[in-house]
Amino acid sequence: MLIVNIKALVGVHPKEQLYLRGSELNQLPVLENAWLLLENGLIKDFGLMSNLHTQHENIESVNAEDRFVFPSWCDSHTHIVFAAPREEEFTMKIAGKTYEEIAAAGGGILNSASKLQKATEDELFESASIRLRDMIKQGTGAVEIKSGYGLTVESELKMLRVIKRLKSAFPIPIKATLLAAHAYPAEFKENHQGYIDLIINELLPKVAAENLANYIDVFCEKGFFSLEETAQILKAAAQYGLPPKIHANQLSVSGAAELGVAHHAVSVDHLEETNHNVLASLSHSETIATLLPSCSFYINIPFANAKGLIEHDAIVALASDYNPGSTPSGNMNFVVSLGCIKLKMTPQQAVNAATLNGAAAMQISHEVGSIAIGKKANLFITRPMTSLAYLPYSFGQSQIENVILNGDFYHA
Ligand code: NIG
Ligand code: FE
Repeated sequence: MLIVNIKALVGVHPKEQLYLRGSELNQLPVLENAWLLLENGLIKDFGLMSNLHTQHENIESVNAEDRFVFPSWCDSHTHIVFAAPREEEFTMKIAGKTYEEIAAAGGGILNSASKLQKATEDELFESASIRLRDMIKQGTGAVEIKSGYGLTVESELKMLRVIKRLKSAFPIPIKATLLAAHAYPAEFKENHQGYIDLIINELLPKVAAENLANYIDVFCEKGFFSLEETAQILKAAAQYGLPPKIHANQLSVSGAAELGVAHHAVSVDHLEETNHNVLASLSHSETIATLLPSCSFYINIPFANAKGLIEHDAIVALASDYNPGSTPSGNMNFVVSLGCIKLKMTPQQAVNAATLNGAAAMQISHEVGSIAIGKKANLFITRPMTSLAYLPYSFGQSQIENVILNGDFYHA
């Protein structure tokens, strides 16, 4: 496929650029009036229309006049395998209940777990597929998916097997994360060590034997998993070669972010609550700071300090956190809008954070996340747009006209 007359080809980073740290996030290289050639599912070449090679002239071409071409969004934090939505909590929230109060009243993660335990693998696969197709239509071309609504050995494995099926059924890179340490099941409320032992001695060996996960995650938070409990789980997972991605500092400054950095986490995610120590630990660290502004938006908690993190030379990524409790949306266009509107990122920074740095947070930035020769041809073509900023400016609306995955139009 040859795409011609592209008003702006966005994200033409050098191929060796695998992430953008601190002020590097300002650089979003764009080629104006460009062409892009896709072959065998990959980006074969690109250039300026004034230099379109004559040997490409008889290839059937797609006219992208007035349109922008972006690398697909790389959504590095989701929980899209779940049995049922939780609108009842939505109305509790409107009535003034906090996320913690709803969880304490029998809502929250345990509510999702009891529903998921009753669902079949097929049902979970079907409903997650619907969500994933919607996300792809909204421009997502790589995704991470967590377990964490099973909370028993059997149901956590069931979730991970669903993710494995999604991996083979969908034409995008998918990473799987074991988040059995998402909440303590009721029967382990007074016996935390019992549940941790179950994860370490029974679940982890099975997950490893079936090769069901790429990462380990823990909801490290007051009332959930303590620093010591988190460290125990991370150490055990490291023996099976599972690097951490941590739910850190969502509801309190807990030391979770620093713990993640100390354990060489690929990313520490959320970070709505930070202080100087958090910024200092992520400064110049290889651990990516993944911010989830649509979670802040939906449960009315503070927005993360993106500017502080960028000023401290951290690697900042944006992701959706799509889940039934704190973020019932996987629309990365809206995440990018919130990145600009609420995190005060520039459109260039937000786009970089949602593409190349998102890919880096899944350790796949060598194959997706920017427009570079040899990378996967996962991208989207916008409607006619006046400027790059129009995409985040027009929040809540999709500017995407066509999605291309592996070099072919995606029609769900
Ligand atoms: O990332 N914080 C923990 N996990 C999810 C929410 C889970 C839920 O409420 O179901 C999150 O926000
Ligand atoms: Fe999450």
